[in-house]
Amino acid sequence: MLDNILADCSTEWSKTKTNKKHPYRNFYLATVNKEGFPEVRTVVLRKFDPNEFLFTIYTDARTPKMASLSAFPFAELLFYDSRKLTQVRVRAKCIERSKDEVAFSQQHENAQKDYTTSHAPGQPIKSMDDINYLNKNHFIKLIFKAEKIDFLRLMRPNHQRAVFKLQENQWKGSFVAP
Ligand SMILES: Cc1cc2nc3c(=O)[nH]c(=O)nc-3n(C[C@H](O)[C@H](O)[C@H](O)COP(=O)(O)O)c2cc1C
Repeated sequence: MLDNILADCSTEWSKTKTNKKHPYRNFYLATVNKEGFPEVRTVVLRKFDPNEFLFTIYTDARTPKMASLSAFPFAELLFYDSRKLTQVRVRAKCIERSKDEVAFSQQHENAQKDYTTSHAPGQPIKSMDDINYLNKNHFIKLIFKAEKIDFLRLMRPNHQRAVFKLQENQWKGSFVAP
């Protein structure tokens, strides 16, 4: 039963590769900034590795989340499926930040432009017309490795909640009160 829950999570994350409308394709990435404040934002799950439980996202190397992850590399990834009333919280460590020209070249032209803005994301501008697109890109790939997974499904007669922790490369799961 516990194994099925973990396997189902893995299957759902894997489906996001082909199903762009999958509820887990967009998820919420929470980090802690240098001042200790929490910050959470929507991102796109670009790749999931079911063997290592690795989650890949793309971002602009100039975004504030990069500084936050440099200071403290842990994050929480929140996935929510409204049809199944299922929430999955993943505690993960950012284990890789790298330029990836192949992945960049595979992005749609419009998406590529997003990483070439003259102003860094979050920088003040007078109007949206101030943004120019330059030849240099700030595209970066971030990979997060899951360490803890907290699964919750609201259902009747009993809700279902289970926590899995990675211990010596093995997932150890247990049911917990919802
Ligand atoms: C639907 C949606 C998808 C997004 N996907 C990404 C993404 O994949 N990567 C990313 O860096 N920002 C993405 N964003 C923008 C982020 O939510 C955020 O505004 C931006 O990354 C700056 O975050 P930061 O200032 O906390 O670093 C997305 C926003 C929306 C609304």
